[in-house]
Amino acid sequence: MRSILAALILLVQFPVSAANLPRDFRFGVSTAAHQVEGNNSNSDWWQWEEIPGKIKNGQRSGIATDSWGHQDEDISNMKSLGVSVYRYSIEWAKVEPKEGVFDEKVLAQYSDQVDRLLRAGIEPMITLQHFTLPLWVKDHGGWDWDGIAGAFETYLTKVIPVFGKRVKYWITINEPMSMIAGGYMSDVFPPGVNNLSSIGTPMINMLRAHGRAYHRIHEILEKQNFTPMVGLAHNLIVLDPLHSYNLLEHYVTRRFSQIYNWAIPDALTTGEFKIFFPFMINAKADIPEAKNTQDFFGLNYYTRYRVKVNLFSKDKFEKVVTPGAPVNDLGWEIYPEGIARLLNQIQERFPQMPIWITENGIADADDHLRTKYIKEHLDQIADRIEAGVPVKGYCQWTLNDNFEWAEGFTAHFGFYSLDPKTLNRVPRQSAADFSEITRSVKMGLPIPRSREDQ
Ligand code: NOJ
Repeated sequence: MRSILAALILLVQFPVSAANLPRDFRFGVSTAAHQVEGNNSNSDWWQWEEIPGKIKNGQRSGIATDSWGHQDEDISNMKSLGVSVYRYSIEWAKVEPKEGVFDEKVLAQYSDQVDRLLRAGIEPMITLQHFTLPLWVKDHGGWDWDGIAGAFETYLTKVIPVFGKRVKYWITINEPMSMIAGGYMSDVFPPGVNNLSSIGTPMINMLRAHGRAYHRIHEILEKQNFTPMVGLAHNLIVLDPLHSYNLLEHYVTRRFSQIYNWAIPDALTTGEFKIFFPFMINAKADIPEAKNTQDFFGLNYYTRYRVKVNLFSKDKFEKVVTPGAPVNDLGWEIYPEGIARLLNQIQERFPQMPIWITENGIADADDHLRTKYIKEHLDQIADRIEAGVPVKGYCQWTLNDNFEWAEGFTAHFGFYSLDPKTLNRVPRQSAADFSEITRSVKMGLPIPRSREDQ
């Protein structure tokens, strides 16, 4: 009786999540080549970083985390975290530094990396393009170039056979809309166009590139009697009007959400692309090669924004953070319920499509929020799985602090902090907490709770 009472008191004090994650739920960590490898000198980003004012404190990616020089250490750290998936990217600018010229040494290096991961019991999930383009592609016009889909296909036709049956999960393009928002709707990413009406062509080219890649990867691997899983990592942002009574804000929010969140995923099912915003953009295209080209839905989820409309101000539309909301080091709202809302929407639009959380993470240098952030997101995911949403795995961004694009090395998303001089990796407390989580789930136990979670 006493022990039952004690258990009840414990439950009241430390309520467990509504649902447990299934035992076969997969955990991983995510990275991207340019952010971790270093020396990506034939890429558009390398050149971009040289423009004064583009990267915080004038920093450059440089040697980044020197991941190639620290492979064994990083893999052994992944093992301590208890992950069974490593999502990372290979670098087009290194594989094909000049048009039509492939670097066999680089391909051999990537091939060796796959072997090392597999030997450690970690499954590679590989992204083919994560923000960076080779300089020669950029010189042709980058995502505006009508030859880019063909060039991308040539690159992956060289790459896929190198990996063959060893790699099942392929992500063609990472976060098309971050490249569009950063590079075309503003000027924080290359090519720095900063004009909403310019986004149609690059979005269409991304869809064409993905569509052709999807069919080609399947064709190459199916000849070897191997069925790959090919998808794309979407950055979805929860968008809500700032004022619930403001009908104009509701309208603008819906339009932005259609453009930012759904235009690309919808086109990957229907083969029809359309975006519309009054007086600014109205673009349409039939892209039959993109129709039904997702074997799984890759979701990168971080935050929510509120949409504020003031037709009398210079910037008529603004994205703002919910007043008073908890935020990470970059000022992004922490909003775990958002992942559940998006999972519901994905399930409604694309019923029964398997979903992978290909990224979720927090800039939190002193590590006081990370564990709670992860648990709260996992609670939401567990609850959605119980409701029938097919979420297969969760990759945390990221293993080590790395080069965070325009923020340089100032944003700290890693389980391991990185000393920029020595490149030493030092585990944060959340690394140990995460390994406790992954091990508990594997044993069929609830996500562990601690007093600080409450
Ligand atoms: C999304 C991107 O894929 C990744 O490159 C970036 O570092 C993280 N989010 C954090 O901003």
